[in-house]
Amino acid sequence: MRYPNLSAITDKKQCIAIVCNQWGDTGKGKFVDLFSDWADIIIRGTGGSNAGHTLLVDGVKYVFHLLPSGMLHDKDGKINMLGRGVAFDPRVVSEELSILDASHKSHDNLKISYEAPLILPYHLLVDRIDDRSHKVGTTGRGIGPLYADYYARQSLFVNDMLNKGLFAKKLRKFLSSKKAILNSLDKAMAKEVLSHEHLCNGAFSSEKTILDEDAIIEMYTEKFAKELGHYVTDTSKIAKDMLNKGKHVLLEGAQGTLLSIDYGTTKYQTSSDCSIEGLAKGCGLKEPQVDLVLGITKAFYMTRVGNGPFPTKYGGKESEEWVEKINDAQAGLEKLGIKTTPKEIEKGLVNKPLEEMLNGDNETEQGIAVRILGDEYGATTGRLRDPGALDLVALSYAMGINGRDIVLTKVDILSKMKKIKLCTSYTYEGPDVFYAGRQLRHNEVLTEFPRFSEILGHCKPNYETFGGWLSDISGETSYDNLPAQLKNIINFIESETRANVRVISTGAGRNDTVIKQF
Ligand code: IMP
Repeated sequence: MRYPNLSAITDKKQCIAIVCNQWGDTGKGKFVDLFSDWADIIIRGTGGSNAGHTLLVDGVKYVFHLLPSGMLHDKDGKINMLGRGVAFDPRVVSEELSILDASHKSHDNLKISYEAPLILPYHLLVDRIDDRSHKVGTTGRGIGPLYADYYARQSLFVNDMLNKGLFAKKLRKFLSSKKAILNSLDKAMAKEVLSHEHLCNGAFSSEKTILDEDAIIEMYTEKFAKELGHYVTDTSKIAKDMLNKGKHVLLEGAQGTLLSIDYGTTKYQTSSDCSIEGLAKGCGLKEPQVDLVLGITKAFYMTRVGNGPFPTKYGGKESEEWVEKINDAQAGLEKLGIKTTPKEIEKGLVNKPLEEMLNGDNETEQGIAVRILGDEYGATTGRLRDPGALDLVALSYAMGINGRDIVLTKVDILSKMKKIKLCTSYTYEGPDVFYAGRQLRHNEVLTEFPRFSEILGHCKPNYETFGGWLSDISGETSYDNLPAQLKNIINFIESETRANVRVISTGAGRNDTVIKQF
C-alpha cells in the first residue's frame, strides 16, 4: 500500500495528536490511519463506543467504535492502546476483535488500561431511558451515566473485571446504591431496552430486580475477563516509557471539541473532554508532551448529529421535519419487520438531481444533497447527520483550545457547489441577557463563539460568499494543482482565523491527500 509522504509533517516530531475542531465526524479515522504508519504506538484516551471511526483500507471498509484506528497496522508490531480515560465497554471490544479475526488481522499488540472506567449494563439502560426525556440525542452507549458515576466515585474499573470476588462485591454495592433509580423505571420499558443486542440480547434482564447481578458478574468476570484479560496493563506507564525511549506516539481523539464536556455547547455534549487537553490526560500524558496537534476540520461544510444549536445548519424547521419523517418511516418499517436504514429511505425519497438541489434556493434540499454527497450518516447509530455551512466563529473557538494547525477534510464533496458560504460572525437575536461578564444585547454582532446553548441557539449566522471551483478535485495530491478559486477560499480561512492549513483531504482513500505546508 502506497502512502503520501508525511515526512514534512512528522520531521522532528515525537508525539502527534489528532483531534476534531467541530462536532465530530470530521474524518479523523483516515488521519489516524495515515499517521499510524509513522507511529510506534497509537493511543485512544477519551470517549467510548459512542465514537465511530470509518476506515477504508485496501478497498475494505472497517467501522470501529472503541478499538484504536491503528489496529489495522497491528501486524507491523505497532502497539495500540485504550488509555485510562476511555469509557471501556468489554462487549464492544470483544465484538470488534472478532471482526479483525474474521479478516485475519492480528490484535496481539492491543493494550487496555487497567484503570479505565467500566461501562456496565446499568449505564446503557439508564442512558437509553433518560434520553427519552432529556433529549440530548445521545448514542445510547452509556457514556453520560458512566462518567457521572466516575465523578461520583462510584464506578468500577477494568481491573475489577479480573478479580471476580472484588468485582462481585463492588457490583452488588453499586447496584444497591442504584436501587431507587432502578425501582423507578417502567419495568416493561426496561425489559425492552435490555433486550437490545448492545445489552447482550436480554442476558442481564431480571423480572424481579430489572438487572440480574449474577448474570453481569458471570459475563464480565468469566467471558470478558477471559477474552480480554491478557491485554490489560498499565498503559500510562507504557506511554511515558515510549516517549522516554524516543518512540513515535500518536494520540487518537474521539468526538469533537464542540461536544467536549469542558468546552462543548452546554447540555448537548458528550461526557468526556474530547479536546487536546482531555485527550493527552486520557492517554496518560500531559499536553506539553504533544509536539503537534492536528485539528481535523470538515470543509466547506460541517455536521452535527443529535440535538443542540447549530447556527449554520441548512434549512430550519422544514429540515427538522424531513429528518423526523425519515426516522418515523424507519421505525414504522422496523415494526413491520423490514430492516432498512435512514440512508436508504432518504435516497429512495429523493427524485431530483443532487447538483440541482445543491445549487437551488431551498436550504433543506441543499442539506439533503450535502448529506448524500458526503455520506453523512452516523457510523454508530445510522442517524442522519445535519449538514450546515462551515462556521469560522466556531472554528476559531476550537483552535483557541487545540491550536492553529488544521487539516481540511472532505474538500472534494462540494466540488459542484456554485456558491460556498462561510460564517464569519453571528447576530445575537435573543433577549438582552448577562453573559460572560457583560450585558449581551439583542441584535449585537458576535465574533466569539458562545458555548452556552441558550445563547448560541439565538445566533443567526452572517456569511461571506465565494464562487465555487466547479471541477473535480477528488484524489488530487498536489497543492499546485488545486483550482485557484479553492485556494482563494483556503487563503480566506487562514487570514480570517489565523489557521495554518497543513493538509487537505481530497477523498476517503489514504492517498487522496494534499500536504499544503510545513
Ligand atoms: P453520548 O456521547 O452518547 O452521550 O452523546 C452525547 C452527544 O454527543 C449526542 O449529541 C451525540 O450525538 C454526540 N456524539 C457522541 N459521539 C459522537 C461522535 O462520535 N460523533 C458525533 N457526535 C457524537
